[in-house]
Amino acid sequence: MDFGKVLVKRVSARKYNDRMPGDDEIQKVIDAALLSPIVRWHKLHLSVVTGRNAMNMAEDAADEIFARPDAKIKMHRPYLYGAPVWIILSGKKYDEAENPQAARMNENLFWNVGSIIENMELQATALGLASCGINTTVVAMRDKPDVKKALGIPEGYDALASVVIGYSDTEYPERSVKPELIPVSYVR
Ligand SMILES: Cc1cc2nc3c(=O)[nH]c(=O)nc-3n(C[C@H](O)[C@H](O)[C@H](O)COP(=O)(O)O)c2cc1C
Repeated sequence: MDFGKVLVKRVSARKYNDRMPGDDEIQKVIDAALLSPIVRWHKLHLSVVTGRNAMNMAEDAADEIFARPDAKIKMHRPYLYGAPVWIILSGKKYDEAENPQAARMNENLFWNVGSIIENMELQATALGLASCGINTTVVAMRDKPDVKKALGIPEGYDALASVVIGYSDTEYPERSVKPELIPVSYVR
């Protein structure tokens, strides 16, 4: 697919069918993560989750935060939209209490995280797959070591971001550029 087409076709998809992407397709999405512009010194890990039990554990944890009657931000299942593949990016954050440079290092880390997630979403789109960045189940597992373990997140790492991928029967319109989203200034 032409790159311009990939950009307008990428959209956060919230409805998936049961068709499992092939191993080769999943590998291409992982390769895209590995091809993203990342500095070399952060400790990162990718978990490719297709097991429904582990996904359910994460959605249970999300219910505890987002489905409570007094929740500030109310959301409900399915947080992962029934997608067959959930890819979680985890890593080791820098401790701001221990290291005076930690805040800067974490800013740098999060820039890398954005690059990795975006590369995966664009590659998924190019392959004809639907995708959506997911934060709900990421924040929900923060204090849930059993959930993190079930999802293959290494000891001492935190989930940083995630994306679901799969096939969707929904036809999404191509997106248009909305200049009001981010003001632009030019220095000439
Ligand atoms: C950091 C981040 C976290 C997100 N978390 C969620 C989420 O938990 N659930 C969800 O449905 N969409 C999530 N999204 C998708 C955004 O809602 C979506 O990107 C935004 O509405 C713009 O729409 P578009 O991706 O279709 O252009 C997230 C996106 C980002 C960048």
